[in-house]
This record gives sequence, structure tokens and C-alpha cells, in this order.
Amino acid sequence: MPANTLANPAAVHTPTTMQAWVCRDYGGTEVLELQTRPCPAPGPRDVLVRVVAASVSSADVRIRTQNLPRGFGLLGRLAFGLLRPRQPILGSDVAGVVQAVGRDVQGFQPGDAVVGATGAATGCHAGFCVVPLAKSLVHKPARLSFAEAVSLPFGGLAALHFLNQAQVQAGETMLVIGASGAVGTAMVQLARQRGAWVTAVCSGGNAALVRSLGAHAVIDYTENDFTQTDQRWDVIADTVGASSFTACLPRLNEHGRYLSVAGSLMELLARPRGTRRSIGGPAAERTEDLQTLMNLAASGALQPVIDCTYPFADLPAAHAYVETGRKRGTVVVTWADEP
Ligand SMILES: NC(=O)c1ccc[n+]([C@@H]2O[C@H](COP(=O)([O-])OP(=O)(O)OC[C@H]3O[C@@H](n4cnc5c(N)ncnc54)[C@H](OP(=O)(O)O)[C@@H]3O)[C@@H](O)[C@H]2O)c1
Repeated sequence: MPANTLANPAAVHTPTTMQAWVCRDYGGTEVLELQTRPCPAPGPRDVLVRVVAASVSSADVRIRTQNLPRGFGLLGRLAFGLLRPRQPILGSDVAGVVQAVGRDVQGFQPGDAVVGATGAATGCHAGFCVVPLAKSLVHKPARLSFAEAVSLPFGGLAALHFLNQAQVQAGETMLVIGASGAVGTAMVQLARQRGAWVTAVCSGGNAALVRSLGAHAVIDYTENDFTQTDQRWDVIADTVGASSFTACLPRLNEHGRYLSVAGSLMELLARPRGTRRSIGGPAAERTEDLQTLMNLAASGALQPVIDCTYPFADLPAAHAYVETGRKRGTVVVTWADEP
């Protein structure tokens, strides 16, 4: 069978080419180019998805600019490509319609509405993308639009991963730094659901948003420095790399955990100090976590937070906006009107 011939007969209508935003180099948004590329073919345990909506995340911008947390410069080049991105099509969240499935795939069939996360394999800023079953792929809840569904994986998977790592319990107190971002808006909601008492750190303009998501208290970082207060928390999650384990130590209770979602290599390697410890590293893309997020969103218990939606043709503008570091929740790009 030729390489591009698919086992599933429903795949015969898959076009041989597609439009894709290609990141030709590391640099500004000018390195992004809309190209016609071969449509990918799914392997035996892959699902080919026609992309309806994708997110443009802070990770996409980090890969393009190679503006990585301190200490990750060389590691980033080794992971993503020494001179230019090895996988030039960015985008790690997709919501769309199954176009074809590999021969060993069960549970998905052409026509299914799905949402997935490809993690570091990216590839979602295109007309079609391949999602390996080894990554996260679940059915899209009917209650969510494609844009709403795709706004959840990036921030939600990271938030869930770190809350699980920290074993956040009901009754614990938690500080979320960067509460208005993609990870932060999910973290506030998921922590609150676990019964934690949540303090959000954000600018005044985002206070109403994070309160509406369940934050009990808000600290406006443009006016107050939480490290200068005498308050303490059981868990401090820094989702924007604005603090450090050392600076937060006096603000952590006994057995406190510092969650370094976006911290430097030093934070990742930080040793426990007495009963207090720092937790860092990449979040896993687990299908069961994505299913949890979708179930919560379908029941109304997790609110998608979409800052704005761009047409696919304007993806560089979406990148530029995300790069400002000011987005609230997630920025979404859509191909066309939702099916
Ligand atoms: N470890 C992992 O596996 C993992 C997974 C996902 C993401 N991440 C990392 O997590 C980071 C956050 O991603 P994201 O997409 O959630 O970020 P984001 O959405 O880009 O964060 C932007 C938000 O952060 C707020 N903010 C900026 N500086 C702040 C400060 N000093 N204090 C409090 N809030 C501040 C901004 O609000 P204002 O405009 O009001 O300042 C804005 O709403 C990224 O660096 C990403 O690479 C890591």
C-alpha cells in the first residue's frame, strides 16, 4: 500500500495537500508562513483530524521565539531543533472532526467531533493534524463549541497535573500567581472544586474575572507584593514565572508546596527546604485528564475562558497578541464557521 494510502475507506476523500502555518525559523512573527503542505497520513495508532479550531498558546510563542525560562536555552534547542523548529507546524491543541483513523484505532471513527492535545509534537496549526492515541484525544462534549473545547487542554492539563502532583486537599489554602492566564484560570477553578481556599494574584483589571471563576480573595500584583505580607499558604502556584521558591519560602506553611509551572531550571532542580518543597517539570498530556476536563466543562463546573478568536488566516496576529503576555485565558484560531 503506498505510504499515503489509508486503511480506512472513509479517508479516500482526504485531500493530498493542506494549508499550514509553518514556522520557518526562530524569531518574530515574520518567520510564520502560510504554506501548502502534504496532508499527513495517520499511522496505525493515529487519528487524522480535520482542524476546526486550535489554540495559540504561550508555548507556541516560546517555541517560535526561543524565549524560554532561564536555564532552558540549550535544552530548548535540543528539544525543538538546533537552528530552526524541527517540527515547523506549531499548535498543540486541536478541536475538529475525525477524517480518518489508523487500522489499530478503536473508539473513534470518521465524522466524530473530537478534542486533542499533541504536546511537544505540535502540528495543529494546519488544515489537518495527526493525533497519536498515545497523546490525548477524546470526544468533544456536544455542549461545548469547538472553540470552547480547544481552549481547555493547554491550561487545564497543566493545572490538573500540578494540582495532582501537589495533592491539593480540601481545606488547604492556595495562592495562584498569574490567575488570569490559560493555566491560571483553570488552576483557580480546579483548586476551588477540590475545596481549596484560593487567593488569586492578578492585575486589578482581571480581578472580576478571577472572582467569577471562584477565587475567594485577590491580590493585585501591580499594587501589592504578596511576599511582603505576613500571610502564608499551603500551596503557591506560579503560572507565569514571576517568583521563586526561595522568595516564597517564608510565605509557605509547614509541608507547603511551591508549584513552578513556568519557572527557571533552578526552580526545577530546587531541593526541599525542611518540610517545604518545589514541584516543577513538564505536565503530562494524559487522555484521562483531558476527559476529566471535558466532563467538568460539559457539566458546567469548568468554564472555558477565551480571550479572543482569530481567523486561521490571521495566525501571526494571534501570536503577536499572545506574545504581549497580557491575554486572559486562551487565544483561539478557527478555520471557518463551526460545523
Ligand atoms: N510546565 C508545563 O508543563 C507548562 C504547561 C503549560 C504552560 N506552561 C507555562 O506556563 C506559563 C503560563 O502560560 P499561560 O498560557 O497560562 O500564560 P499567559 O496566559 O500568557 O499569562 C498571561 C496572563 O498572566 C498575567 N500576568 C502576567 N504577569 C503577571 C504577574 N507578574 N503576576 C500575575 N499575573 C501576571 C497577565 O495578566 P495582566 O495582563 O493583568 O498582567 C495575563 O492575563 C507559560 O510560561 C507556559 O510556558 C508550562
